[in-house]
Amino acid sequence: MSAPTTRELYDRYVIPTYGRFDLRFARGLGSEVWDEDGKRYLDFGAGIAVTSIGHCHPRVLAAMREQIGTLIHTSNLYYTRPQAVLAERLVRLIGASGKIFFCNSGAEANEALYKLARKFGNEGMPPAPRHSVGEMIAADANRHGIITMEGSFHGRTLAGIAATGQDKVKKGFEPAVEGFRHVPFNDGPALLAAVQEPGVVAVLMEPIQGERGVHPASAAFLKLARELCDRHGLLLMFDEVQCGLGRTGDWCGWKTLLGDASVMPDAVSWAKGIAGGFPLGAIWVSERTVTLKTGATIPLCDLLGPGSHGTTFGGTPLVSAGANEVLSVIEEEGMLENARSLGAHAHAQLRALGSPLIADVRGVGLMLAFELVPDFAARVPALPAGKAPSLFVVEALHAAGFLNVPSGTHAIRWLPPLNVSRAEIDEGVAILRTVLARFSA
Ligand SMILES: Cc1ncc(COP(=O)(O)O)c(C=O)c1O
Repeated sequence: MSAPTTRELYDRYVIPTYGRFDLRFARGLGSEVWDEDGKRYLDFGAGIAVTSIGHCHPRVLAAMREQIGTLIHTSNLYYTRPQAVLAERLVRLIGASGKIFFCNSGAEANEALYKLARKFGNEGMPPAPRHSVGEMIAADANRHGIITMEGSFHGRTLAGIAATGQDKVKKGFEPAVEGFRHVPFNDGPALLAAVQEPGVVAVLMEPIQGERGVHPASAAFLKLARELCDRHGLLLMFDEVQCGLGRTGDWCGWKTLLGDASVMPDAVSWAKGIAGGFPLGAIWVSERTVTLKTGATIPLCDLLGPGSHGTTFGGTPLVSAGANEVLSVIEEEGMLENARSLGAHAHAQLRALGSPLIADVRGVGLMLAFELVPDFAARVPALPAGKAPSLFVVEALHAAGFLNVPSGTHAIRWLPPLNVSRAEIDEGVAILRTVLARFSA
């Protein structure tokens, strides 16, 4: 009897939380992966914005091989040099004083942000009573409300799905973790009204909404959020899990949108590309001074003190060594510039396709999406009834040896490694052109 196939083992032994594509990958290098049958694919998904400097980058392999033979894990009961160096480096990338907490994923990094906000609400001095719509609002003794955006995605933990502004992730897991409220993204008046609600302590947003299909915040909205958070004594927190650490052509996605550092958040979360494929999450918290109810003042980044939060694996020497090398490679091999120039090239090429099936092209740096026309089903008779156009096109691209990432029913993302080449972008554009031409013929 032959050994069960990979697919058969999954069907029998892996809990079916994912609607997986029927592709079984065996190896990868740079922007390419090969399946178990040896078929080659151009990879513009990069593990959903994770393998940020491509598969198996030789410098990361060398750094991790060295570390794996030296010290893999100690727990956070002790100090290790790779984690210390990585923390210093991340603070430098932000460009403002603060400190780092390490964890393992985006959802977990955001959990640390929610806990920071709660601690700030419970222990921080509430702002003075204020007026709202003609009414006096008493100072809130224990603020814990976190405003997030409609269409956002913040992860799959219970608080993560409560924070996420999409109903589909919440269904079946009620009751929701209390305290999250959503406002329409980029809607200044809605944010203005929401921050005046009693009990609000923080605003959390993705500067560029990724899972929804690459929708950037406007510069005006980012500035308004900062201004309102200052005025009402709230924390401004950015989820840069998908858009951060180089993908937009700057270390900080929000700075790319603004063109400068005129807005600085109080805290930022990262994961995905930070260690080039190894699980690592982190948050940065500003050093700005906050006043506690006791009257004492402390740096915000020391609010989560000893015993308040933790995780066994966060920032092991092994993953930190990998992340340090990933960040060095991005810096030393000009990948921020590559993300800017090849992002602009890809954007222009997608627009130049002029496909009647593409309604919109969006993106910042190498975080790109194209939106299929709303009447795709009417234009493409081959679309099976009930099938999302994005899935249909992504599967057709798979058959042509090209990995893209669907977002919802009509958007498709390109999130290639930051060292993707111009030739690879042109190859991707050519494959997409051929596949779409087949449908619109
Ligand atoms: C903006 C954003 N935040 C949080 C997450 C959750 O990250 P993870 O899947 O590592 O928990 C994601 C994942 O797609 C994301 O895009």
